[in-house]
Amino acid sequence: MSDISSTKLVIETNNLVKMYGPHIALEGLSLSLEPGAIGILGPNGAGKSTFFKCILGLIKTTSGDGKVLGYDIRTQGDIIRSKIGYMPEYDSLDPELIAVDQVRYSGELIGMNPAEATRRAHEVLEYVGLKEQRYRKIGTFSSGMKQATKLACALIHDPEILICDEPTNGLDQRAREFMLNTLRNTVKDGGRTVLMSGHVMDDIQEVCDSIVMIHKGKIVVHRRIDELAKQVDEEIEISVWGGSSKMQDSLESRGLNVRRLGRVMRIKVESDDTISAILQSAVESDVQVRRMGVYEPDLEDIFLLIMEKLGAEVKTTSDLMTPGHTGITIPGGEIHE
Ligand SMILES: Nc1ncnc2c1ncn2[C@@H]1O[C@H](COP(=O)(O)OP(=O)(O)OP(=O)(O)O)[C@@H](O)[C@H]1O
Ligand SMILES: [Mg+2]
Repeated sequence: MSDISSTKLVIETNNLVKMYGPHIALEGLSLSLEPGAIGILGPNGAGKSTFFKCILGLIKTTSGDGKVLGYDIRTQGDIIRSKIGYMPEYDSLDPELIAVDQVRYSGELIGMNPAEATRRAHEVLEYVGLKEQRYRKIGTFSSGMKQATKLACALIHDPEILICDEPTNGLDQRAREFMLNTLRNTVKDGGRTVLMSGHVMDDIQEVCDSIVMIHKGKIVVHRRIDELAKQVDEEIEISVWGGSSKMQDSLESRGLNVRRLGRVMRIKVESDDTISAILQSAVESDVQVRRMGVYEPDLEDIFLLIMEKLGAEVKTTSDLMTPGHTGITIPGGEIHE
């Protein structure tokens, strides 16, 4: 592995494998992360939480190795956890405790002295928006307040890296926005590295600069979000009436790339002539074009597109993202409704 101090990597893993009995949760994960805000995206069971637990040294990896801030994840978990704030996905709070005691307690657990932990507990609870509620029992808290308390526990020791496992889980719109805003401030104003996991691109997009997509224990995409958006080809979307498959054949015979979703087709823009080629194809195929416009996928579409098409035929990131090519290559071609 390369020297972290010279490469400025905060987290580096090398062929990380985690098996739960015969089940492979992480299948050779190699990842190099620079400081910043990184979103870890993947469907249920992808391996996001397992990855976090491995780099925190909370669970033993089956094989492979890794470093966090230069410390070995296999042997130096204690040091790593003293430098990282971890907001787990599960409910880690004691309903009988008042918020300020819970947060102070989590500071003491990682070795802070009680006076400093108490001072910081008040500070971080204010930071996460719970100043007024800090003397209330956690058992009386809403989901949003509980998530905020978990975040306060993770921030108590002013960690260099904050790991949040699905921080917006179960939150209503207002609580979600507050949580994302707090995380964004932690990165932007606090200059901290934040790793956050989730299922939806929208949340990740609001906080992060780059994303890592995990699927079935493997990394399928690791990109800056602005580059990911540029990866998508410009397409014209049309809705047609009558003979859409005939029209698809006609478009393809002109060398155009067509993705069809029933009566809706998306055609890759090859040149200034693409629109007139579409119209000529419609006339030739005797098809009515009812609607035509530029298709602008948002990142959520891109993510869903990738995840939808991740199947047996997708083995590596390069199967999804073809370097030097303008678009995301979706194996299997056509998308069906
Ligand atoms: N303690 C465990 N024992 C056995 N299998 C486990 C254990 N923890 C996780 N797994 C399995 O490992 C795989 C990865 O799980 P993990 O919790 O890391 O996924 P995840 O991406 O965090 O999913 P989610 O979005 O549901 O939180 C899943 O198939 C899961 O069932
Ligand atoms: Mg999880």
